[in-house]
Amino acid sequence: MTRLFEDFEVPLGEGVAMLRGFALAEEDAVLAALESVTGAAPFRHMVTPGGFRMSVGMTNCGALGWVSDRSGYRYAPCDPETGKPWPAMPHAFAALSGRAAAAAGFSGFESDACLINRYAPGAKLTLHQDRNERDFSQPIVSVSLGIPAVFLFGGEHRSSPIRRVRLEHGDIVVWGGPARLFYHGIAPLKEAAHPRLGGCRVNLTFRRAG
Ligand code: SIN
Ligand code: FE2
Repeated sequence: MTRLFEDFEVPLGEGVAMLRGFALAEEDAVLAALESVTGAAPFRHMVTPGGFRMSVGMTNCGALGWVSDRSGYRYAPCDPETGKPWPAMPHAFAALSGRAAAAAGFSGFESDACLINRYAPGAKLTLHQDRNERDFSQPIVSVSLGIPAVFLFGGEHRSSPIRRVRLEHGDIVVWGGPARLFYHGIAPLKEAAHPRLGGCRVNLTFRRAG
């Protein structure tokens, strides 16, 4: 498939790798694993500590899952909806995230937490840092699936300049090292259709949380 937006290809700086189409070779295995995880732990809209319902639907797999509620953000071994452990990390997810991290220069990455975000048109993720993890020497591996999104990638401070990068099905962004705590977010999604995922975008964020 030809890409329509090559002109979005801007270098994102030290510690950041944009791996275009990296997940496509394992698309079928990844989508099958996604279906099995979301069957066991369905997407839900979590509430922020401030009491707002997030527009992004979320679930997790792996030993730890990222959760938000009125008491704050944290990693938890069990799904608060069921009290049961999050679904195990599928092999296809572990293999893909490890390969992507290595391709970006972070060898030996073993994710224990995969946050799965589902965006319908209009959903967004405001600028934030990923800082609930224990070891900031480990990178973030972020896999985009489904309809395109605009990734907002900033810097060390909330006020740092923001780059806008289009993310499409199969693209992976890895950030770590000097960029590990950089602010990032997702602009409100535009309506589109994807042959495999319909009208939504799904993002897999792999982290070493514990
Ligand atoms: C995140 O920052 O947790 C997810 C970013 C994305 O959906 O691409
Ligand atoms: Fe994040």
